[in-house]
Amino acid sequence: MKDNISINIKIDNSGQMPLYLQIARQLSVLIKKGDIKPGEKLPPIRKLARNLGVNPITVVNAYKTLEEEGYVYSRIGSGTFAVNHYGYGKSGDIQKFSLPLLEETDHSEFSLMDQGQIQIKPGTINFASATPSPELFPVNEFKEVLNEVLERDKGFAFSYQESQGFYPLRESIANFVELYNINTTPEEIQIISGAQQGIDIISKVLINPGDYIFIESPSYTGAISAFNSRGARLVEIPIKPDGIDLDFLENSLNKQRPKFIYLMPCFQNPTGYLYSETTRKGILDLAERYNFLIIEDDHLSDLNFSNKRVLPLKSSDRNHRVVYIKSFSKIFMPGLRLAFLISPVQIFNDILTAKHSSDISTSGLLQRAFDLYLRKGIFPAHIETTRRIYKQRYDTMLSSLKKFLPGDISMNPPSGGLNFWLRLPEGYISNNLYIECLKKDILFVPGSFFFPSQKPSPYFRLSFAAVNNREILQGVEVLSRVIRVFLKEYAGIKAPSPTYIPFL
Ligand SMILES: Cc1ncc(COP(=O)(O)O)c(C=O)c1O
Repeated sequence: MKDNISINIKIDNSGQMPLYLQIARQLSVLIKKGDIKPGEKLPPIRKLARNLGVNPITVVNAYKTLEEEGYVYSRIGSGTFAVNHYGYGKSGDIQKFSLPLLEETDHSEFSLMDQGQIQIKPGTINFASATPSPELFPVNEFKEVLNEVLERDKGFAFSYQESQGFYPLRESIANFVELYNINTTPEEIQIISGAQQGIDIISKVLINPGDYIFIESPSYTGAISAFNSRGARLVEIPIKPDGIDLDFLENSLNKQRPKFIYLMPCFQNPTGYLYSETTRKGILDLAERYNFLIIEDDHLSDLNFSNKRVLPLKSSDRNHRVVYIKSFSKIFMPGLRLAFLISPVQIFNDILTAKHSSDISTSGLLQRAFDLYLRKGIFPAHIETTRRIYKQRYDTMLSSLKKFLPGDISMNPPSGGLNFWLRLPEGYISNNLYIECLKKDILFVPGSFFFPSQKPSPYFRLSFAAVNNREILQGVEVLSRVIRVFLKEYAGIKAPSPTYIPFL
């Protein structure tokens, strides 16, 4: 189906004007007239090329010309957008546009949604974003430590920081992780600019094209993208409510040897599942017997809503098999871009080299400020406040799901984290439900986006990170109503297949 933009562009094949220039000129007129709204996404390159009957390179050149002339800007992995009236950036980095339907939505847009980077239509209830609401951020406390650092360190706060990270911060982190029963030293810690960078660095260090990497199925989209970008062959191991399927894993290990296995043992994304003691022990045993590394991505272990203590797998890692990546994005402030990893010594130098070639170092000013914040001893109290607020949202979501959802929707409620993983009855596809919910201003992430193949899936993820109690109640009620109608009207209807065009 042609979109409005393609319909409005006419191609003249007489050769009087290059095709790319014809497209650029007509698009610039549409932008100036307001037919393409400020912040609106232009059609994906391949799609526009197909609709206009031209080569994709022609559209690439047209978009490049528009960018040079200041009509559009592009965001890698996300697309090309009309510049807003104030100029890109002045009204904040987040651009406003309404969400496209699923056929036009690629993987990267869901990653942006997951991180709350896409500003959605006012009034939409956002169960897609797993990013904390800004009102939970400890802005005043952080302002104080920033000022203190500036007074104390003056210009040094802005000089190049050592690539491994500000030493006193590594000391503070080594103390802080005692909370998680992790024994380490500043020498084993690498500061990184967010867990995503940690995953990317590990991929650079360990993956050669064609290597096997094992992942949980489903898994975190950002990790899948990083592994794919290095040419990895991904092997999906099913995850169950008590953790990865160990029998399936051992079977796979007998067929292929992975460079590593990537796991989220505490409140896995997207399922929310927590590894049992048996699974933890089993995976560490297998790592030893089959000689592979485990990359543990811990972004949520602090958000535990049960009375049972939850510790990262790293705390049981006696044989140095686990690379531990810890994100602060869900329990502190994601925009700080501050995280750390603890790595077995055999790959530490390679990690340091990869970090250096990525961005030289994580911001020295922010490392110093975060160090002071940790030294003041107020972080555990902040984590506890955040945990309590999320626990309330979790309780509200759980009770409303139980109250309103039709009985044929199944779920295994997690005991922590930020997500519920729900399943439609056999034969139904959540991509179709997504489209119906969008019409009622309810947003969630369809399950297909958590599988490397993006295969249609009956599962979907509801997050309660960015919604308050009122929105949860209202949203779950509307969602449940939509589902009831959906189950009647969509029996046997297949999903539209999502198009994934990486990095165009
Ligand atoms: C499982 C998982 N790992 C890593 C990240 C990225 O974290 P960071 O913001 O620290 O880069 C996310 C973000 O949502 C995530 O869900």
